[in-house]
Amino acid sequence: MSADSGAGETERVPLEAWPEELRRACQGSRHFREIRVVRETPSTQDVARAMGVGGVAMAWRQTAGRGRLGRAWQDTLEDGLAISVCVPAEVGALASVAAGIAAAIAIEGAIVAGCPPAPTVALKWPNDLLIQGRKVGGILVEGDGKLLTIGIGINCSQRQFTGELTNRATSLALHGASVDRLEIAVRLLPELDRWLHTEARTIADEFSRRDALVGTELSFSTASGIVSGIVRGVDVVEGIRVETHDGVITLDPRTSCIVAKLS
Ligand code: BTN
Repeated sequence: MSADSGAGETERVPLEAWPEELRRACQGSRHFREIRVVRETPSTQDVARAMGVGGVAMAWRQTAGRGRLGRAWQDTLEDGLAISVCVPAEVGALASVAAGIAAAIAIEGAIVAGCPPAPTVALKWPNDLLIQGRKVGGILVEGDGKLLTIGIGINCSQRQFTGELTNRATSLALHGASVDRLEIAVRLLPELDRWLHTEARTIADEFSRRDALVGTELSFSTASGIVSGIVRGVDVVEGIRVETHDGVITLDPRTSCIVAKLS
C-alpha cells in the first residue's frame, strides 16, 4: 500500500488515509490485491496497468483522463472520482457493464447514506452512468489481450459544467448529495469485485433494469451497416432489440455502436 505525499484541503478524509480505507474495502476481495493512491497522475489507467493484475489505482487529481473512443475525460481539479483496476482478460466481455452496475449501486448507496432519497442511476449502453438523463460518470475498459484495465470516473462535487458538457453532464452535488470521493470508492470496490464475478444472465438482467435507452430512437453502426429505429430492449447477452421500418432487429452488442440519436 502506498500514498503519494500531500493532503488536500477539501476532502473529509485526508489523502494519507485513503490507502488504508481502500485496503479495508478490498479485504476478502477476489480481484484486488494492491492499492495505490496518487496525488496527481495523467491517468489512473496507466497507474493500474503498471501495477498488473490485482492493482487498484485512485487519484486525488487526474490531469489527462481518457474517455471512450479516444475522447478526453475532463476532471475538474479534485471534483471527480478517478479509479482504475487491473484484472486478467478472462474476467470477460461483460467487465465494462459489470463496472457500470457496480458504480450505479455505489453511487445510490452513498447518496442514501448521506442524503436520502437517492435518484436512480441509469445505465446508457455501453458505458455511461446517468442521473435524470445527464451523464454523472463513465467507464473505460482498455485491454491488451492479457489484461483489462477498467477505469471509472464519477462527477462528485462539480457545481457547474461548461462548454459541450453544460447540458449533458451532472454531478452528485448538483443532485443535492454531499458525498465524498473516498466514500464512493469504498462502496464501489466490493461491488465491483462482486459484479466482476457474477454470471452473465444476472448482469444482463440488472443492466436491463437500469437501461436508459429503451424508447429512444437511435442509429447504430453494425457489422452489416447502419441500423436506425426505436430501442425496444437492451440485453447485453441476447442483444439490443431495435424496431425498424422492416420489423424488430436484434443487434450484437459486441459489434454495434451508437452513431446518432434521432429523437
Ligand atoms: C467515458 O465516459 O468515455 C469513460 C470515462 C472514463 C474515465 C475514467 S476516470 C478513471 C480512469 N482514468 C482514465 O483516464 N479514464 C478512466
